Amino acid sequence: MTVSRREFLATAGAIMIAPGVFASINDEVTPMIEALKQAYSEGQKSVEETLKRLTSDPRDLLNRLGEPTKGGIRVLYNTSELTILNITWAPLMVLRPHDHNMWASIGVYEGREDNIFWKRSESAIEPVGAGSYGAGEVTSLDHDAIHSVVNPTPRLTAAIHVYGGDFFAPGRTSWAGKDQEPTPFSQEGLKNHFVKSNARFGL
Ligand SMILES: [Fe+2]
Repeated sequence: MTVSRREFLATAGAIMIAPGVFASINDEVTPMIEALKQAYSEGQKSVEETLKRLTSDPRDLLNRLGEPTKGGIRVLYNTSELTILNITWAPLMVLRPHDHNMWASIGVYEGREDNIFWKRSESAIEPVGAGSYGAGEVTSLDHDAIHSVVNPTPRLTAAIHVYGGDFFAPGRTSWAGKDQEPTPFSQEGLKNHFVKSNARFGL
């Protein structure tokens, strides 16, 4: 059975969290991944500049990656040194504070994501700053950054996330509850959070 590119991308847009899976690689997406791999070899600044170039044409990215249909994570590239994800936030989705243990650069190409930045304090964590990023905007986080993310819009928000390491490696932390208690970061918990966040909007 022949599957059209649109049908393929719609299927590929389902939630996929699987280390080592090179999903959705096709002729349209490959040049973008190759550009980011090259930029990675030159350093985070180069990754940031490449993301700025890519997200300066959101329509082109939407054509290459497909229109987002629900919140989720699509793994575009994943090794122990470099992870490239296409993340779509569900409408009004909130992701609690978490670390990455590696640098990260995020380029938004659809919708908007708000970040609150945190630092470790004696008791738990405390907020130290915030930023709001729309299509065409890029933010970069240091290896020890902690952030929480909000999609403030009633629509989907889509971005390319580049991490200088294995996003799926263990040892990460998230903070939850009114006292922001540290807890091991759970990929399964993240997956379930996407499912629930989609369900709120019938996605
Ligand atoms: Fe994050």
